[in-house]
Amino acid sequence: MRDRLLMSDQTLFRDRDVCELSHIPDVFNYREAQLNEMAFAVGPALHGARPINLLLKGIPGTGKTSSVERIFDELSYTTRRVVPVHVNCQFDHTQFMIFARIFHGVFGHTPPTTGLSIRRLMNEIGNALVTRQQVLLVCLDDAHFIQAEGVLNHVLYPILRLYEGFPGVRSGVFLTVSNIDTDLKKVLDPSVMSVLQPTEIYFPPYNEEEVRGILQERVRRAVYPGVISSEMFDLIVEKTMISGDLRVGIDLIRRSVLNAEKHARQSVVPGDVDAAYEISRYIHLESSVRALSRDEKKLLGQIASYSRDEERMMTSGAVFNAVREEVPMGYTVFYERLRKFEQLRLINLYSRRMGGRTREISLRYDAEKVAEECGG
Ligand SMILES: Nc1ncnc2c1ncn2[C@@H]1O[C@H](COP(=O)(O)OP(=O)(O)OP(=O)(O)O)[C@@H](O)[C@H]1O
Ligand SMILES: [Mg+2]
Repeated sequence: MRDRLLMSDQTLFRDRDVCELSHIPDVFNYREAQLNEMAFAVGPALHGARPINLLLKGIPGTGKTSSVERIFDELSYTTRRVVPVHVNCQFDHTQFMIFARIFHGVFGHTPPTTGLSIRRLMNEIGNALVTRQQVLLVCLDDAHFIQAEGVLNHVLYPILRLYEGFPGVRSGVFLTVSNIDTDLKKVLDPSVMSVLQPTEIYFPPYNEEEVRGILQERVRRAVYPGVISSEMFDLIVEKTMISGDLRVGIDLIRRSVLNAEKHARQSVVPGDVDAAYEISRYIHLESSVRALSRDEKKLLGQIASYSRDEERMMTSGAVFNAVREEVPMGYTVFYERLRKFEQLRLINLYSRRMGGRTREISLRYDAEKVAEECGG
């Protein structure tokens, strides 16, 4: 009989879903302070009053979306007073798509036709909230994706001013952004800003001990004992810290074990982790680049091409001269963008015996890969 290619019954996984990035973990530590503040913001809504609007800020993989999911889940289970609606702005990026998502949250189904005007959608949403005496709470997750072209303004305004057309209706928003230097005052109209008045909650990157704790829990649930030795676990933690993104660690566990399975081993060896890292390490690059504006992406792509072509060390002045034709901007904007890339851990900036704002630049990722991620 022919050897079976699929469905080998040998597996090292106890539960492979646990290492999927979409998995919602049962144990969620180290975010008590943020969760408490979020619960506090929701508090008034439980009594039919307006919730406190929030801006949740933190680099990718710091638990913003997971925290919102936890609060919203609890709301759905415990009260009918509040309608929580989670909008992923990477997917729902137009005003219509977002209101259709809110409609879905309120009625449990998508609007009957796509031809409905936004005004009609708003009307139906507003009337339902009045009748049911419910408070609307919308999370615009990854809101930086809809900053450009004013979509964020055009969505926030009607949500926050719902009470004008529908007396008695209360509504609030949670915004999440992974551009930590997002300044909403610069992005939003003063009329929107004045009703939004968000409280900011910061999600700092997890430190090594926290990463260790989170990954330990995943390993415990995902694989059988002995599959990942303590040495291999240390290696996974070390690589996660270098990458600066918890997601890399979660993905590394999965890929390392898959590699071991592929070679019919009972446990993970260093080669399995190394090979996995060559793929997992770019999850951060991918998600950070995802969070950049078109011009920022273009600039980063140009820096990558420049570093590929130049043997010499890159200084900010030289890079500025090399890229300004492709990406027109003044030095101040250029410098702000560099700082942002540094904050997102895409580049390193060093100041070495060079006066003023001149810095040495190095990419934290392979130039080829960065250029590819930025669209060639
Ligand atoms: N405290 C934690 N305990 C366990 N798992 C966590 C914790 N924080 C984050 N995670 C896991 O890490 C991954 C990334 O978390 P999450 O999606 O919430 O980050 P984020 O801040 O929304 O990132 P992004 O800005 O890229 O959207 C998820 O798979 C999540 O389950
Ligand atoms: Mg998120």
